[in-house]
Amino acid sequence: MEIKFVSGLADVIAAQTEISSVDGKRGVLRYRGYGIEDLADNSSFEEVCYLLLYGKLPTKAQLNGFKNKLKKEQKLSKPVQDFIKGSPKTSNPMDVLRTAVSIIGVYAKKETLVDSSVRLIAKVPIIITAFGRVIQNKKILQPKPKLSIAGNFLYMLNGKVSKLEEEIFDVCLILHAEHGMNASTFSARVAASTRTDIYSAITAAIATLKGPRHGGANEKVLEMVKEIKTEKNVESYIMKRLKKKVRIMGFGHRVYRIKDPRAYILEERSKELARKTKSNFYDILKKVEKIMEREVGHKGIWPNVDFFSGSVYNSLKIPPKLFTPIFALGRVPGWCAHLLEEYQPANRIMRPKAIYIGPKQRKYIPISKR
Ligand code: SDX
Repeated sequence: MEIKFVSGLADVIAAQTEISSVDGKRGVLRYRGYGIEDLADNSSFEEVCYLLLYGKLPTKAQLNGFKNKLKKEQKLSKPVQDFIKGSPKTSNPMDVLRTAVSIIGVYAKKETLVDSSVRLIAKVPIIITAFGRVIQNKKILQPKPKLSIAGNFLYMLNGKVSKLEEEIFDVCLILHAEHGMNASTFSARVAASTRTDIYSAITAAIATLKGPRHGGANEKVLEMVKEIKTEKNVESYIMKRLKKKVRIMGFGHRVYRIKDPRAYILEERSKELARKTKSNFYDILKKVEKIMEREVGHKGIWPNVDFFSGSVYNSLKIPPKLFTPIFALGRVPGWCAHLLEEYQPANRIMRPKAIYIGPKQRKYIPISKR
């Protein structure tokens, strides 16, 4: 039965998965059956990584063993360090991250997919913060064994981290860990369906996530808030752009037709931090949300995961250039879980069709006659 062309593969089922479920109508997101709200309130990013990779919540012993494996991988080889230190400070950090992962792949020994996944989950935050220090002309810091991935990220970037900052950033990573067949995960699965290696597939995912329609939106939302400056400018700023059909970053989603459940959780953190840092970013965002609801809510265009995340990261003193790499850092366990699924023998190479709409058959004309 010929399936007709659907722009953007909207609603096309590309895989069967046990990893997460995304209910766009009711705004429900579950990882291996656990609600995202439950995990954000009670779990940790390391525990969620274990859940995504192994399909169940770990016992205390299993979690400690997993954390020890991660800690053993929290260093970068000399080729990767030299590359990061030698990258131009003006480079896009997503290009640096993508290339650093490729270098790790060049030196990778034969290992299980789970071991490669642990290696990537451990190394990606080190790559990002190392480059973060390079662009701030600061010495690269080493991780502290006592800190979590979230805590170490903020410590290695800013030289210090509070318990509250670690807790909030840990929730951000949990919220970004997995989201079904989004573009970057699909990209990774297409690569894995050819049985290429995991580092090539993750490189494809990072390259895909970089795009402003996908992971790149969080940085653009913060740029918008800074351009708006105060609440009283919001109405004219938004209406002008809507009139010109300019997309408002942080809004809209292919699956969610109501507010992204992750946006509610990030909104709370954004409000809490805005109060602590006396920033008006949260108030501006809420005003933008109100106007967008009035103007386009009926079209199913609501805040997505990127709408509040930038204001949270800004309050955590993370440079905007690192916002999209943070999305990648959070998503590594989700990508790896999907690759473990895609490499199952029953999965075939992904090879959709295209409907030819070009010129009808033509005869070759010698160049002298053209
Ligand atoms: C993520 O898929 C995932 O799961 C992704 C993600 C994940 O966790 O992996 O959730 C993360 O990528 C979130 C999305 C972040 N991107 C943005 O915030 C960028 C702005 N959003 C849009 O570019 C857009 O909404 C997309 C890309 C997110 C979804 O695009 P679709 O589903 O292809 O929708 P569309 O482009 O066909 O738009 C449908 C209509 C259009 O209007 P009409 O031409 O029909 O009149 O909605 C309008 C669009 O103009 N529209 C917007 C809008 N997004 C869509 N109008 C204003 N502002 C927007 N942001």
